[in-house]
Amino acid sequence: MKNFITLQDLVDPKKTIALAKSCKQDPFTHRHLGQRKTIGLLFFNPSLRTRLSTQKAARNLGLDVMVMNFSNEAWAIEYEDETIMSGLRSEHVKEAAQVVSQYCDFVAIRAFASLTDKKRDEEEQVLRKFAEFAAVPIINMESATAHPLQALADGLTILEQVTIKKPKIVLSWAPHPKALPHAVANSFIGLMNHSNADFVITHPEGYDLNPAIVGNHKVSYNQEEALAGADVVYVKNWCSYTDYGAILRTDNEWMMTADKMKHTNEAFFMHCLPVRRNVVASDGVLDHPKSLVIEQANNRTFAAQAVLQEFLTHG
Ligand code: CP
Repeated sequence: MKNFITLQDLVDPKKTIALAKSCKQDPFTHRHLGQRKTIGLLFFNPSLRTRLSTQKAARNLGLDVMVMNFSNEAWAIEYEDETIMSGLRSEHVKEAAQVVSQYCDFVAIRAFASLTDKKRDEEEQVLRKFAEFAAVPIINMESATAHPLQALADGLTILEQVTIKKPKIVLSWAPHPKALPHAVANSFIGLMNHSNADFVITHPEGYDLNPAIVGNHKVSYNQEEALAGADVVYVKNWCSYTDYGAILRTDNEWMMTADKMKHTNEAFFMHCLPVRRNVVASDGVLDHPKSLVIEQANNRTFAAQAVLQEFLTHG
């Protein structure tokens, strides 16, 4: 694996999830594997889970960790080729990526979507440009269109908790006051491509995700119908893809509530966090014993550890 930018970079996501499970059973089996190696974590956006779990995963493997917040600590980076850098951007990615490669054996990057320029977001300019000029592997800690470490953690959580052979898994849109990217939903769909679940995506009209990512998966504009008999309900907000970046509705009709969960087969509730209580999901859903949100966050460590272990073992 040259870089880890989407789930498609993995030979087999199911094997990586199985490896994550074994990392969880004994996180320190390979505590010397990363000795004398360093990972750099570059954050262009905020984080709680990704930042701490990736550091923990790296340390479990004996890696040194360097963390930098590019939003307020580094020079502003220019990504365009053959540009005259007379504006606010002081450093070109061409130098930055090569310099960071001298200090690090792996570079993990978080760079969210702009939600203003669909073409540029879909080109994954930040990660792809770093990958072009870096001499070391680039790892995605949530980019414009993908959050594969989250999807692997979600896959591990489902593997651990859901014993039904062919579960019904529902990905439901929920309201949010801010325009949020599609990365988590996209990567969860990517995970479902490797599952034998009865998978349904439900959202209001106007919130259709990228059709190239949705593929042939079932889509319903009727949340109640979609929830009927569900074994797992994964809730996430995203902004409009067609009217790129727009918030089309602000009512709370699609918030996940305990009453709606009654339509399910006593489903597990999942969300990647952070979550806005009583906006995205009610207290009753989040505090219910079937809520897996804390375990999903726990599994972020072992998902990251499995990916790093694959790089350290196979290059
Ligand atoms: N789920 C997730 O990526 O959380 P953070 O944004 O806190 O890293």
